Amino acid sequence: MDRNSKRLARIGAGLAAALGASAIAWSAAGAHADPADGGQAAHPFIINGQQAAEGQYPWLVALGYANETATPYENQFCGGSAVTEQVVLTAAHCVDWIEPDEFAIYSGSVDLESGDIAATEVADVHVAEDYQDPTTFANDWALVRLAEPIDVEPIGLDRDTAESESFEVAGWGLDENGRYPTVAHWVEVPYVADGPCGRAYGGGFDADSMLCAGDLDNGGVDSCSGDSGGPLTAADENGEPILAGVVSWGNDCALAGYPGVYSEVASFTDTIDAILADWETEA
Ligand code: ARG
Repeated sequence: MDRNSKRLARIGAGLAAALGASAIAWSAAGAHADPADGGQAAHPFIINGQQAAEGQYPWLVALGYANETATPYENQFCGGSAVTEQVVLTAAHCVDWIEPDEFAIYSGSVDLESGDIAATEVADVHVAEDYQDPTTFANDWALVRLAEPIDVEPIGLDRDTAESESFEVAGWGLDENGRYPTVAHWVEVPYVADGPCGRAYGGGFDADSMLCAGDLDNGGVDSCSGDSGGPLTAADENGEPILAGVVSWGNDCALAGYPGVYSEVASFTDTIDAILADWETEA
């Protein structure tokens, strides 16, 4: 088993356990575990983005196994965003199948093979109480509290449900060649309204907790397997980046007619504030 299929198998196992039935996003991951099937132009997979520059997303972190015999690159299985120096926002499906002592937060560089990458222990995980309610991937978010502060620049939360026209998404997930890059990639993705997204995905789409982005007509730009949990950012009225979404799911990656689906941060900022306040008083 190569590194990629091992990681996909673990995520798949977690999802399968959580969901019972097969989920759209995970059948996509399974398909791409076989390079003979993925990687070609028919499935352009961060899909058609570019390498992130050092410091471009100073809140971007990786979730990876706490396995010191493997490298951070080999351990990585999801993305996340630092919302404080000691708390990371990620997807619920990234952490609901693993114990806090079995994974770590990797931070310090966009390059997972850089010597600047540090692994930090997880102290606590809070999975959204309404995760999978009312649909399979509804409220797909979780907060991870670290054992100690890390050297990141936390990103502010988008508190406004009025969507911006376009976003950036970043992570170490599959690229258009069906490979996991060592340096994070990013791509710009246009907003897709709830109406067309709901028509594309039917009953799986929960407008209250999800936000869609991608090129609905042409496909070609998207997040993909391994990007889950990572940041979808918008610009606030001053042009400063704010966190609008968390990479969650989609039908395959970058297909025309099927945008990427993100947990909609503005719909759970109050809950995040309450949890952060709780952890603050505990600390
Ligand atoms: N569920 C995937 C993960 O665990 C993310 C899939 C995102 N898919 C998409 N088409 N945007 O990494």
